[in-house]
Amino acid sequence: MNTSSHSRDLVADLAFAHRLADLADSLTMDRYQALDLVIETKPDATPVTDADKATEVAIRNAIAAERPDDVIVGEEFGSPDLSGDKYFWVIDPIDGTKNFLRGVPTWATLIGLANPDGEIVLGVVSSPALFRRWHAALGHGAFVSLNRGAEKRIHVSSVKALGDASIAYSDLEGWGDKREAFIELQNHVWRTRGMGDFWSHMLVAEGAVDLAVEPSLALWDMAALDIVVREAGGTFTNIAGVAGPHGASAISSNGLLHQEFLNVIK
Ligand code: IPD
Ligand code: CA
Ligand code: CA
Repeated sequence: MNTSSHSRDLVADLAFAHRLADLADSLTMDRYQALDLVIETKPDATPVTDADKATEVAIRNAIAAERPDDVIVGEEFGSPDLSGDKYFWVIDPIDGTKNFLRGVPTWATLIGLANPDGEIVLGVVSSPALFRRWHAALGHGAFVSLNRGAEKRIHVSSVKALGDASIAYSDLEGWGDKREAFIELQNHVWRTRGMGDFWSHMLVAEGAVDLAVEPSLALWDMAALDIVVREAGGTFTNIAGVAGPHGASAISSNGLLHQEFLNVIK
């Protein structure tokens, strides 16, 4: 990829990303728990609702109107070639669709912006049914706001040993040959909880949980989470230890526990 530096006004981009999240919130909340919610099954046998599709279309249209030179990667409507020299937005219109369609409030719209090298430079994670929104931009810190109130800066925990750690994950699917190692590890940490989806990783960024892990994910599941965790002082890699959200799995942590966890799970 072209590595030339592109000057970008991240403050303006972050304000735009918040406007995208506002738009998403109004669409998703309008359909959350709607009796006529339309649910279809995708070719990969996972569900998608009319809200997932309408939200991604609305975000794509807004980006096309206000950032016409940027590229868009989204879960429901695909990805173009990313080998050029353009910034690209990474959109998961609803992370936690299975929660959304059952009326469980743990779902969020994930909006990330990557530079041409693929580094995520800003992220907004908006969870209106939990009344929470997290955001971060490179070099500007990570923040949460509750119920659209004042932003509060967040930071990862300082727990240093896995034996003292609280670990969050989604479920036991997708672990393959690492499943037994992960189950065994649960006997040797302080606490585990299957919070799941974006929520596990945002709790790491807040310092409420010390490490979160998911064995099988796509870029749109992780882009916005990566920058929030890193700007909160944490570390975000895949299960092989490769930094960033491009490695098809995710471990976010306070940094202090990361290598110990990698050693166990490898
Ligand atoms: C899902 C969530 C979940 C993960 C699944 C994803 P979706 O995304 O990120 O945590 O375990 O693999 O598909 O489909 O609800 O956007
Ligand atoms: Ca997702
Ligand atoms: Ca989704």
